[in-house]
Amino acid sequence: MNIPTTATLPIVVCPSTDLVEGGLAHKLAVTHANEPATAFFVRYKGEVHGYLNRCPHMGSELDWNNRVFTRDGEFLMCARHGASFKPDTGECTGGPGRPSKLLALEVSEEQHGDHQVVLWWPKGKTAPLE
Ligand code: FES
Repeated sequence: MNIPTTATLPIVVCPSTDLVEGGLAHKLAVTHANEPATAFFVRYKGEVHGYLNRCPHMGSELDWNNRVFTRDGEFLMCARHGASFKPDTGECTGGPGRPSKLLALEVSEEQHGDHQVVLWWPKGKTAPLE
């Protein structure tokens, strides 16, 4: 689990059960540098990770209908030109645009009543919609 280091209020992204290893990403409408954008959240090797949904190659959204993982579930892949990224760090591992990295968001999981939820701790230029 990533430990939040800021004092911002978290956003509840989704129930933890919505994020499955190698499964569909959960997308959220956000702003980045005051422009409309989306973020996505995934589970990889048991941990949740969140990224701005913007490929460093040409700025496209990575996903295709919320699909971001390669078939083997080992990498995130941009649907536009096939750049691949490590799911746990966002580091680009192949395809166009290297060297580069996805913009990581600070996330955690927390028990809320009888279920666990994924939390996003906004900071920097990426913010939740009002
Ligand atoms: S826009 Fe993602 S690989 Fe080109």
